[in-house]
Amino acid sequence: MIDIHTHVLPFVDDGSESLSQSLEMVKTACEQGVTDMFLTPHRRHEYNTTPEETIEVFNNFKKEVEKLDLPINLYLGNEIFYKIDTVDKLLNSHRLTMNNSKYVLIEFSTIYPIDVEEAVYKILRAGFIPIIAHVERYRYFTAENYFEVKKMGALLQVNADSIVGKEKRRRQKTIDFLFKQQLVDFVASDYHANRPNLLKEAYRVIEKRFGEEAAQVVFNLKAKEIIKG
Ligand SMILES: [Fe+2]
Repeated sequence: MIDIHTHVLPFVDDGSESLSQSLEMVKTACEQGVTDMFLTPHRRHEYNTTPEETIEVFNNFKKEVEKLDLPINLYLGNEIFYKIDTVDKLLNSHRLTMNNSKYVLIEFSTIYPIDVEEAVYKILRAGFIPIIAHVERYRYFTAENYFEVKKMGALLQVNADSIVGKEKRRRQKTIDFLFKQQLVDFVASDYHANRPNLLKEAYRVIEKRFGEEAAQVVFNLKAKEIIKG
């Protein structure tokens, strides 16, 4: 499996406080069956590590992971909190794209409704492909919003813990809708040290409900495109 949304990189956000904690998280991901993992630290006002600093932490972390000789590849990105200046920041390389590609992992406010179609339009016009993080969480999104942003060219990611974890009950209806309408591009863990990694369990649920082929698409195949760039 390919996990495109994690907070495993130490020191840079609320994901992990220490190197040892992060190394444990990588081991757990391997046990879940993850072969490729994107480290996507938050980029929002309270977590403002620069791309250069983040790349340095990433390179050091990668060396530590290599010492463990685990069957996993690591890639860097950011989970970018969308604001009015996000496109400018992307164009000026002040935000990290996914493995240096045109793909960008974007989160929106879950509290204050934003014009998601306008945001997607601006990102696409600037030459980037938005992946909307945990798309099931934005309660102000309408069914039309989902269809429209997909049609425009955005990609949609849902969290494993909305399929099987503590979020399940609250998100069930939206998750069912998204899968039945075939709107989901990726399932990812959004792994933080203080939350369990539920990727494998989520895979089993999706496989059982929608078949192996559908599960392979959202847990593996579509993410390969990001790695390829
Ligand atoms: Fe996240």
